[in-house]
Amino acid sequence: MTLLELITREAARLKKAGVSFGHGTANAFDEAAWLVLWSLGMDLDSLEDHAKQEMSAEAEAKAGELITRRIESRLPAAYITREAWLQNVPFYVDERVIVPRSFIAELLVDGEGQGTLDAWLSDRTQRVLDLCTGNGSLAVIAALAFPEITVDACDISEDALAVARLNVERHKLGKRITLSQSDLLDSVSGTYDLIVCNPPYVNSRSMAKLPAEYQHEPVLALAGGDDGMDLVRRIVSEAAARLTDIGVLVLEIGNERPHFESAFRRLEVAWLETSAGDNAVLLVTREALVRWARKPEYRA
Ligand SMILES: C[S@@+](CC[C@H](N)C(=O)[O-])C[C@H]1O[C@@H](n2cnc3c(N)ncnc32)[C@H](O)[C@@H]1O
Repeated sequence: MTLLELITREAARLKKAGVSFGHGTANAFDEAAWLVLWSLGMDLDSLEDHAKQEMSAEAEAKAGELITRRIESRLPAAYITREAWLQNVPFYVDERVIVPRSFIAELLVDGEGQGTLDAWLSDRTQRVLDLCTGNGSLAVIAALAFPEITVDACDISEDALAVARLNVERHKLGKRITLSQSDLLDSVSGTYDLIVCNPPYVNSRSMAKLPAEYQHEPVLALAGGDDGMDLVRRIVSEAAARLTDIGVLVLEIGNERPHFESAFRRLEVAWLETSAGDNAVLLVTREALVRWARKPEYRA
């Protein structure tokens, strides 16, 4: 059996078992390729070069066992391999953080995503805040994409911050990224030109129906209350005070656009296009936040 045949066989097992994707891959073949290559100690991008390589019985068994573990445990692959990739940047992950997959990453990486933040940033953009940093992926990607900036990154979870620390060290960004614990903006001081935030925003009904894979992730990182907007409400009311005059907040809200729009009627936002479409990430300027805050009748 060749490597390609082995991956195809294992992909069929994943499909038959009904595992759920969305933690770095979107289909059974890509997930099987990731796990099979990893189990054999091969580079994850080496499939093309080795597709026709004959596999030993031992290699077949090893790969098969890992796929069995994936099926039986329903652990996202990244928790098994302890590594996830976002915009081609590797991150350490474990169950203390969600597997990074924020669409904001696409917007930070110049030219890679379908959208870009360039139009909203200026030469004066220097201080960036990654609010709800989790494993630190957005902070790291922002620092790599914009070499002149410094990034503060905070999270309420000490566990998440411990993982973020590993990633900041891994990418040698300790001089440009400062991690700290904060309940949203409560312990954040100073102002920022850009705040990026992928907060917990899953509404209660969706939380109750999450596939098993997502149930391995910290509830604290996902659950956003009844309409998913519990934390977003606080962020929207408090962000203006932490933004400079040219500052913008870039906020991910996933599938919750209807809930967002009914919670923040007449707040002027720009919906940014990502691979998830143009409903998942929005941008709001400090000016718009201030205007909105002055008009209590705009609030739901
Ligand atoms: C959806 S995860 C995002 C993690 C990371 N930014 C990413 O995109 O992969 C949300 C993060 O918010 C953190 N969090 C939850 N409640 C918080 C709060 N009140 N203040 C600050 N962070 C909070 C969680 O610990 C979690 O790491």
